[in-house]
Amino acid sequence: MTTLLTTHDVARIVATHGLPRMFSRLVDYLEADFARWNDFDKTARTAAHSDVGVIELMPVADDREYSFKFVNGHPGNYRHGLSTVMAFGALADVETGMPTVLSELTMTTAIRTAATSIMAAKRLARKDSKVMALIGNGAQSEFQALAFHHMLGIAEVRLYDVDPAATDKLAANLAGAAPELRVVRAADTAAAVRGADIVTTVTADKKNATILTAGMVEPGMHINAVGGDCPGKTELDPAILTAPNTRTYVEFEPQSRIEGELQHMAADFQVTEFWRVVAGEARGRTGNDEVTIFDSVGFALEDYSALRLVRDLASELKLGSKTDIVPVMADPKDLFGHLVGTQARDVTQGQRILDAVATAAAVAS
Ligand SMILES: NC(=O)c1ccc[n+]([C@@H]2O[C@H](COP(=O)([O-])OP(=O)(O)OC[C@H]3O[C@@H](n4cnc5c(N)ncnc54)[C@H](O)[C@@H]3O)[C@@H](O)[C@H]2O)c1
Repeated sequence: MTTLLTTHDVARIVATHGLPRMFSRLVDYLEADFARWNDFDKTARTAAHSDVGVIELMPVADDREYSFKFVNGHPGNYRHGLSTVMAFGALADVETGMPTVLSELTMTTAIRTAATSIMAAKRLARKDSKVMALIGNGAQSEFQALAFHHMLGIAEVRLYDVDPAATDKLAANLAGAAPELRVVRAADTAAAVRGADIVTTVTADKKNATILTAGMVEPGMHINAVGGDCPGKTELDPAILTAPNTRTYVEFEPQSRIEGELQHMAADFQVTEFWRVVAGEARGRTGNDEVTIFDSVGFALEDYSALRLVRDLASELKLGSKTDIVPVMADPKDLFGHLVGTQARDVTQGQRILDAVATAAAVAS
């Protein structure tokens, strides 16, 4: 049987452990998986684009476990009362192909994206960073703010969104979740970014936007560019990447060349795959004046790590239900017999329920 983890199960895991501990545990899982990067069979995700959004499949596997995530990106979804990003995914046993876990991944993606940002910023941001500008105050933003506050000691966040209601929501949620975190509302992106140690851009728009211009970037900043994550959707002025004393880090280079800020760059533009830093093969920040960019698009290995974590925590807490998403058969060659037997059992059970309802109705009258 496959373990089914719903949004309620994941919410209970978070309620039990708290978000700070979830971030910390997930950074451990991510670092362990990124450190053994070459163990994984990796591929850029496949994307089905439409005029209004994208639906993507993100697979990855090592020799023991396979995972995939289904995820969409529809910036106009709020008009339908739906989130921009929604996701679910699975873990399977490589030995047999049996799906072991089927899980929600919308909330989990927000946690994993923030944890991935932390894994990068631990090695790329200045150690004395205290102030973060947060541009784009939608669904991902609380997770980014809280992860940087709890894991990296960010004491002040400066918020800006073109939608003031999104900033109201973020400020109210942060006041409840972390009252000690100083929250400043900025008049525009330039005001939010001025003097910040870290700039996180997490905006959603299906176009090449210039959220951050080269003139806003100051020596020593770390830029955590999260929102630009598909062809035609970027957030940074390309001049930021090519500026002197600036280095760009990516997740999986073949995917980032298609989807990241790298879309604007020539094919020979030098970047560092971040796993090399985790594995000790490449350097992170080398000086206090350097500008570092984490050009995040979201890679399947991060979901593999996140799925493993929610699976392990659900098991500890005895959460989740067993479901026969694939048939469980006495004779694995008798699929037809199983189908007919299941039909017969369901009909019998259905009849029993109808009989019980009829009996109850008769007693009541
Ligand atoms: N890199 C990753 O791993 C990863 C993971 C999850 C989401 N994302 C991407 O992050 C982005 C944000 O996701 P979300 O779930 O928070 O979306 P969301 O729609 O909930 O929030 C996005 C916010 O950006 C704001 N915005 C749009 N244009 C802006 C601008 N020019 N200046 C300031 N704010 C602006 C919108 O008003 C909105 O409030 C999406 O593009 C999504 O695809 C990336």
